[in-house]
Parts: sequence; structure tokens; C-alpha cells
Amino acid sequence: MTDPAEHVVDLIFGRWRSQILYAGAALGVFDHVSADRATTATALAQAIGADAALLYRLLRALASIGLLREQEGQAFMLTASGALLRADDARSLRAMALLEEGPEHYAIWKHLPAMIRDGRQNAFVREFGAMAFDHARADRGYGDVFNQAMTSYSALQSQWAQEALAGFDFAPVKTLCDVAGGHGHLMCAFLQAHAHLKGIVLDLPAVVGDRERLWAPKLGLADRCTYVGGDMFKAVPPADAYMLKLILHDWNDDECVAILSNLRRAVTGEGHVFIIEHVVSGPDQPHFAKLFDIHMMCWGTGRERTEAEYDALLTRAGWTPLGGRYPSHRTMGVVVGAA
Ligand SMILES: C[S@@+](CC[C@H](N)C(=O)[O-])C[C@H]1O[C@@H](n2cnc3c(N)ncnc32)[C@H](O)[C@@H]1O
Repeated sequence: MTDPAEHVVDLIFGRWRSQILYAGAALGVFDHVSADRATTATALAQAIGADAALLYRLLRALASIGLLREQEGQAFMLTASGALLRADDARSLRAMALLEEGPEHYAIWKHLPAMIRDGRQNAFVREFGAMAFDHARADRGYGDVFNQAMTSYSALQSQWAQEALAGFDFAPVKTLCDVAGGHGHLMCAFLQAHAHLKGIVLDLPAVVGDRERLWAPKLGLADRCTYVGGDMFKAVPPADAYMLKLILHDWNDDECVAILSNLRRAVTGEGHVFIIEHVVSGPDQPHFAKLFDIHMMCWGTGRERTEAEYDALLTRAGWTPLGGRYPSHRTMGVVVGAA
């Protein structure tokens, strides 16, 4: 059992660790050190264009949280955890770090106590004068980091979604549509796992128009995957099944019902919808969803929900809830609805 004072002190200083990590990722430190040979702070400072003395102190702190290993002579090597913050790692979490600890998301959290006092969930508006997706359209720098971070999240989440849906019979599904599917990472994972499937990825025109970042052409799946620019609040393409990953948590209940109703109108065949989210666990069960929920409070109009709350949204939109499916560790879940 942790000492209560140690516990609280650790929580108070939690953000220091994530900001130290962020600075390392933003400066490209992890891209310029190796797991095989040590690089000195001076050499690294030259490579990334930084001040050697201040950089050394950052590197020492990064080593202190397990992302680098310090050797004699102010030299550093990469650890297995640090390697996940390189841009070129297949499972890279760098973009996630740049988004979640970057200037925009850092700034919105400071409005949390005032929002809770006022009962108005609008930190992005308080800070930037616009909701997050509008801000992303106006500020391409934020928009790019956001979209890359979504792919970064998907590297892990696509596996979890597939594990959760391992027992689901995809044989009758000919066309699967990922609604607001970003650059199509999740869709490609399903196309690779089910050779008979054809995929549609719907997202905002600016997102699917960023051709260089789309996954299907990169993975040789372009002939089975169509990217559609559109607005899920207006209409979605017909499909036998829909996926919504990290979408409903962006929106309030009425907005979610509007999205789910559009899917219900368009669905064909046996018709299913898969809601892939961090599903809130029961009272007194610690869960990442309960923390992510506070981030969503700051970020937009959305929230994290329990399985029962997702079932209620499905019912309001004309779907029949079929219950949740979970990977072994239950960090995320898939709530299924049938037409
Ligand atoms: C939290 S991200 C999730 C992306 C993707 N599903 C994933 O898990 O990586 C939300 C996505 O919703 C898209 N989006 C926002 N408003 C939309 C709309 N009205 N119609 C379609 N897509 C929308 C954004 O562009 C973004 O890609």
C-alpha cells in the first residue's frame, strides 16, 4: 500500500514527467540517439540545433524517467520505451505525445475548475475562441498534429478492437464503413484480417484529401478501400456494418443520436454498428476512461460513457443493443448494435 503523502506528491508532479517526455519528442531527441552506441549531449545538441548545457539537463531527466540511459561523459543511449517516441518506429507514440502535451491541449486543462463551476463544457472556446474541429481547420499545424496523433493511438487500438471482435462473424459483411475513420489505420487492420471485405473510410474532406498520409495506398489496399470526404451529421455511405472509433466520445448525447440515426438510415444487409471506445467501468473501479472523460470535458462537447449509456444512445437511434465485447485487459471495448 503506497503511503498517502507519497501518493499525492507523485500525482502533483505527474505533469512534469509528461512535459519532459514532450520536450524530448518535440526536439527530436529520440530520433538522434541509438540503442547500440552512446551519443554525447554536445553531439546531440549539434544534430538537433539546441543549447548543449540545457539539453544535457533534459537528457538526464529523460534518463531518470526511463526513456534514455545515461553513460559516463554526458552520453546517452535509447531504451526500449524511448524507441516508441521515434518518428520512424512502426508503433510510434510520438504524435500522441505531441498532441496531448502540446501547447493546445496543455492550455485547455487550466479551464477545468471554472468549467465545472459554471456548468459550461467549452474550454477550447474559452482558450481559442472556437471548438476543436473548427480550430483544427483554421490552424493546420494543430490539425496535422491531431490527425497524426489519431493514427498514433490507432497502432494499439486497432489490435484491441480486433481482439474484442475476434468472435464476431464477419462473413455476411461485404462492405464495412469506418465513420470519421481518419487516415484509415483501423480500416486497413480489418481489411488485412478479412480478405473478402471492402472498406469505406468517411472523414472530413481535408482529412481524406491529405493523400500522402492515407494508409490504404501505403499498405497496397487501395483497390479494396475507398476514401470519402463528407459530413457524418448529413449523410454516410451505405454499408453492411459501421465502425465508430473514438467518435461518439467527441459529442454530446443528442449529437451522438444524430450520427447513429444517419447510420441506421443508411445501413444495408444484416446491419451492425461497432462503437469502439474507452467504456466507463463500474463505481470504484479505477479506469483510464474516467480520466479520458475529463480530457473530453476540456476538449469538446463529449464524454466517456458506460456500456448502458451507449446502449441507450443506440436504442434512441433505432438500433438494437447487442452488448459489449472486450479485449482481455478491457482498456477499450466495442459496444455492438444491430439494425
Ligand atoms: C477523435 S478523431 C478519431 C479518428 C479515428 N476514428 C481514429 O480513431 O483514429 C475524430 C475524427 O472525426 C472526424 N470528424 C469530425 N467531424 C466530422 C464530421 N462532421 N464528419 C466526418 N468526420 C468528422 C475528424 O476529422 C477526426 O478524424
